[in-house]
Amino acid sequence: MASMPALHLTDDVNWTALADEVLVHCNQIAAYTEEEGIITRTFLCAPMKPLHELVSGWMQAAHMTVRRDAIGNLIGHYPAEGDGAPVFLIGSHLDTVPNAGKFDGVLGVLLGIAAVQALGGRRLPFAVEVLGFSEEEGIRYRVPYLGSLATAGRFDLMLLERIDAHAVTLAEAIRAFGLDPAQIPMAAYPRQRILGYLEAHVEQGPVLEKLNLPVGIVAAIVGHSRLWASFQGNAGHAGTLPMEDRHDALAAAAEFVLEVERLARSVDGLRATVGALTVKPGAVNVVPGLATFSLDVRHADDAVRQRAVAQLLDQAEDLARKRGVRFHMEHIEQQPAVKADPRLTKMLVAAVETMGFPAMHMVSGAGHDAAVMASLTPMTMLFLRSPGGVSHHPDEAVVPGDVQVALEVMVNFLFCLAGGLP
Ligand code: HGY
Ligand code: MN
Ligand code: MN
Repeated sequence: MASMPALHLTDDVNWTALADEVLVHCNQIAAYTEEEGIITRTFLCAPMKPLHELVSGWMQAAHMTVRRDAIGNLIGHYPAEGDGAPVFLIGSHLDTVPNAGKFDGVLGVLLGIAAVQALGGRRLPFAVEVLGFSEEEGIRYRVPYLGSLATAGRFDLMLLERIDAHAVTLAEAIRAFGLDPAQIPMAAYPRQRILGYLEAHVEQGPVLEKLNLPVGIVAAIVGHSRLWASFQGNAGHAGTLPMEDRHDALAAAAEFVLEVERLARSVDGLRATVGALTVKPGAVNVVPGLATFSLDVRHADDAVRQRAVAQLLDQAEDLARKRGVRFHMEHIEQQPAVKADPRLTKMLVAAVETMGFPAMHMVSGAGHDAAVMASLTPMTMLFLRSPGGVSHHPDEAVVPGDVQVALEVMVNFLFCLAGGLP
């Protein structure tokens, strides 16, 4: 194991001030939203451009040059001590779910910038690039990880035809932002140039708080299946259509939602959620003709997840037949479970233990860009405690002292990586 270079080289760093600045910046970024009064920032939405200006300024203040790729990822580059050196990537996402908290995604980008700032102009035997991915949550175009998929060279150009709720194609949204969709393949990193990827992220769950630990090590990220489907019945008059003659699409969906919950409760470690449901025509006095919904299924074991999805699709078909409605699956996208890289994670463990904390290994039930980046390069991930386990909610929080711990761990890790290079 490479010896851990002491932080004496950066002892002149005011860690508390840097960590406080990360928190101030998280609060500043919260003001960049599509919806007044709450935090909603979807793929290449209008506030994302001024947000990029703001974050670019912070990257430049940390002695980084800044670029934006064709899918809208914002990338800060901190040069190595020599030419032709490899690059180490640190990143997370700048988009959010609707009515989000202040830290999901954003914190990982800002911690990356602060870690570079803590180097204080010292060069490492590798360059460092900090990536603010443009789309991880999959809200606007119903496909997650658009940013990191492009970085990993896995962006399917067919996606450019997808439309959002306003019938704007993904390609049009990219052009409206001033970018060229034809350049997306150029966003892919050359695999051989990359040493690895580190993401710091709020845990979004209760484990670290229960253990009273500031940070944790992500050993694996569960796989997920996400699909959009519908039950198509017959709309009708709520007052005159007899109950026995109805083909009520919403009643079918409601029965299905309870089936999803029942199955997920019966399989250890399985999580299944119908998070979105829309009803047409959606009038008080009309029997619903169409119910469109999402299904999110997750498990650490891909075979268990896929069995669960197959079982739920069979159940959807069965109850559609029973109710005389039609079941239609619009599209499904899958992200397999991934494991963190053992070598990088050993360094991250050493960096945590140097701070005097146990290195608690955890499985992430939340998806992250790190899951996609693992297909490009060795990945390692650090969790920060989530007070109340709350996330995807305005009450999402962090403990200020934990932000400082995470920052020091990340810089420790970079020195360890530098020390471990041939
Ligand atoms: O859905 C997730 O797990 C992540 O927040 N995108
Ligand atoms: Mn999220
Ligand atoms: Mn996230």
